[in-house]
Amino acid sequence: MLAGVRRERDADVIRRPNIEPLILDITNPEHIRALAERVREDPQGRALRAVVNNAAVQANVPVEAFAIDQWRDMFEVNLFGHVAVIQALLQSLIDSRGRVVNISSVGGKIAMATYGPYAGTKFALEAVSDSLRREVAPHGVQVVVIEPGAVRTEMLGRAIASAHDPLAAMTSEQRRRYGGLVQAVNAQAEASTRSGLPAEAAAAVIAKAITARKPRTRYTVGREAALLSVTRLLPDRLLDRIFAAALRPYMPKEEHNRPGSPHGPFGRSIRPPARGGLTNRSDPTTREASPGWTL
Ligand SMILES: NC(=O)c1ccc[n+]([C@@H]2O[C@H](COP(=O)([O-])OP(=O)(O)OC[C@H]3O[C@@H](n4cnc5c(N)ncnc54)[C@H](OP(=O)(O)O)[C@@H]3O)[C@@H](O)[C@H]2O)c1
Repeated sequence: MLAGVRRERDADVIRRPNIEPLILDITNPEHIRALAERVREDPQGRALRAVVNNAAVQANVPVEAFAIDQWRDMFEVNLFGHVAVIQALLQSLIDSRGRVVNISSVGGKIAMATYGPYAGTKFALEAVSDSLRREVAPHGVQVVVIEPGAVRTEMLGRAIASAHDPLAAMTSEQRRRYGGLVQAVNAQAEASTRSGLPAEAAAAVIAKAITARKPRTRYTVGREAALLSVTRLLPDRLLDRIFAAALRPYMPKEEHNRPGSPHGPFGRSIRPPARGGLTNRSDPTTREASPGWTL
């Protein structure tokens, strides 16, 4: 297995008799060219069975507050980098009747507040995967999308770090508009990640997508992801209210009590359903047992 890493020290950590690390920043065309060459000129003439596109960056920032260059950088990794890798390796995959496995997210199906940039890239990855699947199926290549819910990795910590600068650059007006929302989303995401699946559970689903004789076109990872994918069928306005209600327990107190706040008791809201229902995160007593959602 060839495993892309960005630093030599990471290469040393993962090197095994059957794992060959190679330096790969998917935004670097030179690295992608070297990868394609390594695959084509395998010393043992082995075929390329599958490409797993896993890299991603995340930052929960409101649409207005994420500078346009920051949008571009996120698309560069989460979408264009994967497209570039696929383009470079597709002939090898056609030769081997191999498969592409794209790691999307529940955020590729549903875009909650502040997830706009990340979900934008993941929705796009889902669309590209659909087109590609229909283009290459006649040539023997399968395309599979994996949609995890919360998985315990470094992603959330990195996302919070990446959001630091854009959030710090918000105007005071933007801070008033979004400060409470961003805090609530992070608290909800932290709770969700704490109770998320171990990375091994996601790896098992990816392994299945690679090895199944007849893979499905999509796999969700975790019950939360399966549930959230289905909520897509609900009307938009109802979903808006469900997500707002799910976020409300995480809103800072002052925001919650601010008259006229869309998040507080004076704002438009729906009654949270009974404990155990879809939005039981609205009940602070269940917060630990039933954390919010992350994508
Ligand atoms: N964790 C979750 O809850 C969750 C939920 C839904 C979907 N996902 C998806 O699962 C996949 C894996 O995420 P994760 O949770 O493992 O996140 P993570 O711990 O933050 O790992 C992200 C990986 O992407 C790599 N990466 C970032 N930019 C890159 C670039 N330009 N070129 C090559 N590699 C780059 C990082 O490399 P470095 O180590 O060098 O920085 C890191 O190894 C992602 O596609 C993510 O969207 C995760």
